Amino acid sequence: MAVDPLIEMRDVNKHYGKLHVLKDINLTVGRGEVVVVIGPSGSGKSTLCRAINRLEPVESGTILLDGHPLPDEGRELAKLRAEVGMVFQSFNLFAHKTVLANVSLAPLKVRKRSREDADRRSRELLERVGLLAHATRR
Ligand SMILES: Nc1ncnc2c1ncn2[C@@H]1O[C@H](COP(=O)(O)OP(=O)(O)O)[C@@H](O)[C@H]1O
Ligand SMILES: [Mg+2]
Repeated sequence: MAVDPLIEMRDVNKHYGKLHVLKDINLTVGRGEVVVVIGPSGSGKSTLCRAINRLEPVESGTILLDGHPLPDEGRELAKLRAEVGMVFQSFNLFAHKTVLANVSLAPLKVRKRSREDADRRSRELLERVGLLAHATRR
């Protein structure tokens, strides 16, 4: 089956000072495809992920999302970031909000969904991971 590419990285390079973290990275991730990147701690996995929504700028190479080059900055970049999700290794939840409110926060603020729609979808997701019973807990 032909791959419908959603993320494409071509000859991507990045250094932190003298440390060459991303070396000629070529990676294609197809629409609907699930890819696991495995490697030792410090090998650049997180840097690779951060490069995809430009949390880290790269020095050379091309990154295409759905066929479009990553915008440099401004409105277009903000729009792109609203579409590229990332769960950080040490993520934080808001302690003063319920589980449901934490899950609905991004759809409400970033995607401008109605509370009703956001909460409905959040409940479906919580149900899927067996956490619906805890939705109203902080
Ligand atoms: N902001 C940064 N400044 C300098 N060095 C960094 C920075 N972020 C990561 N590094 C270094 O780059 C390398 C790759 O880090 P990282 O992408 O976090 O690896 P991984 O996620 O595979 O553990 C490590 O040696 C790390 O110390
Ligand atoms: Mg990491």
